[in-house]
Amino acid sequence: MAEQAFVTLATNDSYAKGAMVLAKSLRKHKTSKKLVVLVGPHVSDQSRAVLHKIYDEVRLVDVMDSGDTAHLAMMKRPDLGVTLTKLHCWTLTHYSKCVFMDADTLVVSNIDELFDREELSAAPDPGWPDFFNSGVFVFRPSNETYSKLLQYCTEHGSFDGGDQGVLNGFFSDWSTADITKHLPFIYNMSSIAIYTYLPAFKQYGANAKVVHFLGQMKPWSYTYDPKQRRVRGDVQEASHPSFLLEWWALYSSEVVPMLFREYGDQPFHSGCEEDVAPSQDAPLPMSSAERKQKWEQGQADYMGIDSFDNIQKKLDAFLK
Ligand code: UDP
Ligand code: GLC
Ligand code: MN
Repeated sequence: MAEQAFVTLATNDSYAKGAMVLAKSLRKHKTSKKLVVLVGPHVSDQSRAVLHKIYDEVRLVDVMDSGDTAHLAMMKRPDLGVTLTKLHCWTLTHYSKCVFMDADTLVVSNIDELFDREELSAAPDPGWPDFFNSGVFVFRPSNETYSKLLQYCTEHGSFDGGDQGVLNGFFSDWSTADITKHLPFIYNMSSIAIYTYLPAFKQYGANAKVVHFLGQMKPWSYTYDPKQRRVRGDVQEASHPSFLLEWWALYSSEVVPMLFREYGDQPFHSGCEEDVAPSQDAPLPMSSAERKQKWEQGQADYMGIDSFDNIQKKLDAFLK
């Protein structure tokens, strides 16, 4: 039987960092599958060298772009046209079955059992659950499916400008045909769901197997203080603090040293605080009225006083 693989995509050095952490997290949880990364021509030689050390296969692909600015603008993510490049994963025909994972996902438990599922299995999108989220999906590489997908793109375009629109159009019976193709949410848990349904997260969050840092702010958009193990910056609700810390712990301990080795004397900013300017003095503590106002403006201090742990304590006290 041909081999099976986890597959991801990185068209630039930022997403390449995500791909490096994703592979480290899969290996940490002892996957027995091959790891494949599709890279675009803009990924630097240094990033590629590191990817070669972590992945079994690094495959250079052409960047496909929907150029569909109208739809992408609607989602406020003009950068997502390039996600059509994901469709190349169907050309990996030397594998019998694969699981695609976005480069902004982190594995927190072994997920090899996903290979028992059939194409196309995926978890519901948290924004529109009748569609699947295309950040994690099981598929069967096939040149025939690949050309049909490209043909579908040409004829119908993508309603969201990215791959998720195309894939949901193509596998359009996903929501109704076969419940075994619905992956449990724990295989693609976007941290945004934590704050929209806190009690569910409290009850089942510990079962999460894959965290998806969906949305504009990615783990690598922040900076990190490795000494204090703290993420700096205005942490948005899409990035749950403890998962964000888990991403940074893996990145700073296992990926950054490999990147520094490749960059040698050339400048390289890892995002860890040693290589950025020291931050300003700590802000003054806020009054409770000021805090309430910040919450109402959607600017909670998720890393500090409004952290999930503190919310949970409050919730526990309230339930008692
Ligand atoms: N991606 C990429 N380069 C880009 C944008 C996206 O390589 O400039 C890839 C990457 O694997 C990423 C996936 O496409 O995880 C989907 O994009 P993203 O995760 O940003 O979308 P979201 O999950 O936030 O909707
Ligand atoms: C999404 C998915 C992502 C996909 C993008 C574009 O929100 O999380 O995986 O690439 O839409 O369709
Ligand atoms: Mn994503």
